[in-house]
Amino acid sequence: MTRLVPQPIAHAMMPLPVHDAHAREDFIVGLKLHMMAHAYPYDELVYERRAKPKFVKEHGRAPENCDEVHALMMGDDFTKMWSGIARAAQEMLWANEGKIAARDMPRIAAEARKLSAAPKGTLTLDPDFEMPRYVEAVDIHCMPGGYQTSLSDDDLHAGAMYERGSYYYTTGMAGRLRDGGGKGTVAAIKKFFPDFEPKRILDVGCTTGGATMPLVDAWPDAEVHAIDVGAAILRYAHARAEALGRSVHFSQQNGECTNFEDRDFDLVVSGGMFHETSSKAARNIVKEMHRVVRPGGVVMNQDIPYGGDYSLHDQFMLNWDCYYNAEPFWRQWTAINRTDLLNDAGFDRTNIVESWAGRDAAGTFSFFDAPFDESFPSTGGGIGRVQFFGAQK
Ligand SMILES: C[S@@+](CC[C@H](N)C(=O)[O-])C[C@H]1O[C@@H](n2cnc3c(N)ncnc32)[C@H](O)[C@@H]1O
Repeated sequence: MTRLVPQPIAHAMMPLPVHDAHAREDFIVGLKLHMMAHAYPYDELVYERRAKPKFVKEHGRAPENCDEVHALMMGDDFTKMWSGIARAAQEMLWANEGKIAARDMPRIAAEARKLSAAPKGTLTLDPDFEMPRYVEAVDIHCMPGGYQTSLSDDDLHAGAMYERGSYYYTTGMAGRLRDGGGKGTVAAIKKFFPDFEPKRILDVGCTTGGATMPLVDAWPDAEVHAIDVGAAILRYAHARAEALGRSVHFSQQNGECTNFEDRDFDLVVSGGMFHETSSKAARNIVKEMHRVVRPGGVVMNQDIPYGGDYSLHDQFMLNWDCYYNAEPFWRQWTAINRTDLLNDAGFDRTNIVESWAGRDAAGTFSFFDAPFDESFPSTGGGIGRVQFFGAQK
């Protein structure tokens, strides 16, 4: 049978579905792809041809900010229709992935125990760790239990659910090993700093380490560290890295205040983390990155783009997740200018780099120098487009 999206690579820690659960994955990913091709791109047309003229007739002027566009579009039957389906698809996705992970857990846990016998990397959890409120209070992007849940000393569930679920969430664009984001980060570093050869690397907000592996592969002599706040996802990340034969040192730490020394790393990266933190935390994390990177070292981040240059309707589409997909910090994040953010944390403006990129259906990044490129139209959920922003200290 031809599948719309191939299955993720079945490494030893990958949750494996029974037939019906896999059929549900196929249905959900098909629905998401259908929406991306046949619903989201038409919302702008509905705005221009139907909703905006109605607004102008009532108010004697066009909408002036994205809140007005939001209220207007959520009153239109077309937008209400796709919005409801998009939310339902997200809830179905996680309900299915949670069951797949739970059903396969005895095998996954046994694999993790086997892999812990002779590890290449390390795992350091902090029994007194204080979960940041912006993580603890949210089941982010409708994922039950979020990143924060760890129900026992050997719980792996949040990591297992995220590992398979995030692949289907991104309709496979993250790559069959979920290494697409990390490969993009490596490509961005090589684009801006071609001769840079880091020896000590830190990945902040690594989740299950999908984007950490390409760092290990790009600089095989480097010592790679990865931190996150969730104990269950870190246990899973450690076992996953061992299953893939990579050496990574995982630890449970808040990126706002780590225990690393000043100037400890040559390279510090993050992928997809900032839009899930409060704006205060985002500022603290960039300051901490500045503290732990050595002079001459590099910081490179990848996340949802700054929305300030977008049209009002594009801002509405870009920020949909904030209101309907349990991403409460998303909109604050799209309002933050990335060069200002890095500069405020201590990086010199002349050393700051920004680039935009689009991921095609196969997950390959193309870089472009301006926020927009018509070959990568915005999709609901911001999945296709990302922004890289970094600096040399
Ligand atoms: C979207 S995920 C990142 C995805 C990951 N980089 C990957 O490639 O799979 C965001 C991660 O950031 C983590 N996070 C949020 N706030 C954090 C903080 N203050 N310090 C460290 N990690 C944090 C979350 O727990 C979550 O695992």
